[in-house]
Amino acid sequence: MSDYIQTDGASFFRVGRQAYVSAELYRRELNEIFDRTWLYAAHDSELREAGDFLTREVGGRELILQRQADGSLGVYLNACAHRGARVCNERAGNTQRFTCPYHGWTYDGQGALIGVPDRSAYGLPGHCDLQQSLIRVRHDSYRGFVFILYGRSAVSLAQHLGGARDYIDLILDQSEAPLEIIPGAFDHAIKANWKLLAENGVDAYHLPFAHKRYLKYLDTLGTDPASHRRSGRGEALGNGHALIMSGPPSTGRPIAYWSPLFPEALKPSIEAKFDELVRRFGQARAEEIAHTNKSLFIFPNLVINDILGLNIRTFFPRGADQVSVTVWGAGFADESAEERAARINGLISFIGPGGFGTPDDVEILESCQRAYAHAAIGYSDFSRGLLAGSRRHVDEEQNRGFWREWSRRLEGASVRPSQALAIAV
Ligand code: FES
Ligand SMILES: [Fe+2]
Repeated sequence: MSDYIQTDGASFFRVGRQAYVSAELYRRELNEIFDRTWLYAAHDSELREAGDFLTREVGGRELILQRQADGSLGVYLNACAHRGARVCNERAGNTQRFTCPYHGWTYDGQGALIGVPDRSAYGLPGHCDLQQSLIRVRHDSYRGFVFILYGRSAVSLAQHLGGARDYIDLILDQSEAPLEIIPGAFDHAIKANWKLLAENGVDAYHLPFAHKRYLKYLDTLGTDPASHRRSGRGEALGNGHALIMSGPPSTGRPIAYWSPLFPEALKPSIEAKFDELVRRFGQARAEEIAHTNKSLFIFPNLVINDILGLNIRTFFPRGADQVSVTVWGAGFADESAEERAARINGLISFIGPGGFGTPDDVEILESCQRAYAHAAIGYSDFSRGLLAGSRRHVDEEQNRGFWREWSRRLEGASVRPSQALAIAV
């Protein structure tokens, strides 16, 4: 496969730990993965009205995303055509024009240059034209999820998402109302390689160990303590995308599966939602939608967690040993205030900065990275379920799928594993 992956295709699958610490490899990942892959940027619901904009760093570059008068979306680099200063310093707002704070060049809502102070000094009557617009960035969306692409690629967003689209559909089919991002976001950084987080997002094996504190807490609320051992499946969906799905969960599901975690008063509306799902989709798909937790990983850096709360997490490496993370909560437009509160409570109690889940994962991922940094030898093991051919959520086929795609992207690697690694193996 690659210099970093050791497998016989049947019984073992290991990844050389140099893959998590090499600075050269990190730079190649930026060029060959992040600059050539569709990256999640925003959700349609964040840009509702004409003129609504938000600024956001995506894939290491600062962008302006703005809703146009015709309903389409404009995506531009947030960098002035004159000397590159950041044109907009607001995080979000509504405007018809952006004026650069450096020398005052002004752009309209399509990113076109419309004003240059002391323009006559350039001596070129045609200087102020569309050639001097903000640099446009290719973008596309699937069911409200907006992705951008920096490099030239013949692969459309639909082709890139491939088999993951079925699971985006499964998550979004829980309501006929549109998904909406809950205002606010949770930003943090982890001193670990970004691929550790990619693995962790679809790793069900660790739950009863790394998060046992949370499971004990659930027990105290009267939830079913055996539920986290219920069956599920893990799948590599192609193109590096991955899924874990299991249930029914002890935490319940705010959409249509009540648990003691929710107020008793929500029971009737939650049960009514399930009946509605059965009416729309039949019993089997209704149960898949309502009674299973899902974590969907979209290569290379997006996780949609449809668990107790619905959240969208994206991340980007800052070096071989650091990753920045942003998490948004989401819900559906037809939810009552009480249902929305249950979703937010679910999000904050597990994924939030002081939640039960995130601090556990951060601490453990940083400990993995520390081990790789001072002893970047040997391999991390992803063989679980391979020999048996099983695809349980607690197996690792979904992680192997990520690494196969990573390896394919970096094929022809000029970077070789260190001598130390070769000796250790
Ligand atoms: S850098 Fe923007 S006007 Fe000069
Ligand atoms: Fe975790």
